[in-house]
Amino acid sequence: MRAVLLAVVVLVCGANGLFLPGAEYGRLKSSAPVTSWFSRLRRQPKPTHRIIDPNEDCFLVTSEEGELFFKAPSDEPSVCGIYMIADPDKRIQVTFNYLDVPCENGGLVAWVDGWELNGQVWPADSWDDDRVVESCDQRPLKKLISRQNAALIQYRVPARGKGFAVTIRHLKKARPCNVMLFGSEGVYTLRNHGETGNCSIIAVAPATVRILDLNVGQSVKRGSLLDVETGTIHYCTKRGIPDYVDVGGANGLDNTKMEIVDNVCGLDSYEGRRPWYIACEDTMVRLVSSGKYHNSVTLAFAPLPLEEIEHSDLICGMNDV
Ligand SMILES: *[C@@H]1O[C@H](CO)[C@@H](O)[C@H](O)[C@H]1NC(C)=O
Repeated sequence: MRAVLLAVVVLVCGANGLFLPGAEYGRLKSSAPVTSWFSRLRRQPKPTHRIIDPNEDCFLVTSEEGELFFKAPSDEPSVCGIYMIADPDKRIQVTFNYLDVPCENGGLVAWVDGWELNGQVWPADSWDDDRVVESCDQRPLKKLISRQNAALIQYRVPARGKGFAVTIRHLKKARPCNVMLFGSEGVYTLRNHGETGNCSIIAVAPATVRILDLNVGQSVKRGSLLDVETGTIHYCTKRGIPDYVDVGGANGLDNTKMEIVDNVCGLDSYEGRRPWYIACEDTMVRLVSSGKYHNSVTLAFAPLPLEEIEHSDLICGMNDV
């Protein structure tokens, strides 16, 4: 099981910039598991104005709104990131109040509509070029708004005294589809709102996942007279059922590389199901919808107990070796 634990540590240490290539995140000294940078965050006070300390905050995760300032302490070309996360029903708006980052020597500030870690992006299954806006010399004039509750500012400022200031706001988002969980604990309902396509939830940590309520592939959009409790149907894809829920995880943020432990569908309001134990860097659930049904699945996430790792239902990366 050592491999799993090591993988978690590597996720935190080896955060290379994809959009700002060629440099490791500077001065990253943390070797604690992923869950610890979420817990570290909770202990922080609630400053609405904050100056980024280049020695401490190169890999900064924040769930706060407010203003952030960065001023480069040296000419060193380190790549750093501000990983922003909000409540599941919010999206993130960033305004650059000023930006004084010369383009020389690779100076760059990038807005990323999503997260990037170790060269993998989230949400990878709905990625496009519009998700990245790069700037130097001139600040982006428009407000940058994410499509989901997580976004990232990556920056490399190899010019002493230069820097930028941003204001982060959390805006209400109707009908959230892709959601990142803050930490590995929480209850969330994924819905398709009657639409075609995939919606997903990710916890950036190993976790247990339990379905509290399931209504997938059952409630026809029009003319449904009564819904019959089918119970939870397993391996729905093998049975050719078009609407289902994939449960699994991946070593990395890329949800197209998700390893699947089970897929379920049906109508089941019984809460007492056994959870899946997912020993992966990231725990993922994906709701796949044909558009014929109103689907919803309510999920409870909890941290994976360390002593359960070897009894996990899924250990990611085992097929690679
Ligand atoms: C939705 O997920 C399924 C299962 O992984 C995949 O086959 C399909 O291509 C995805 N659809 C979209 C629109 O990404």
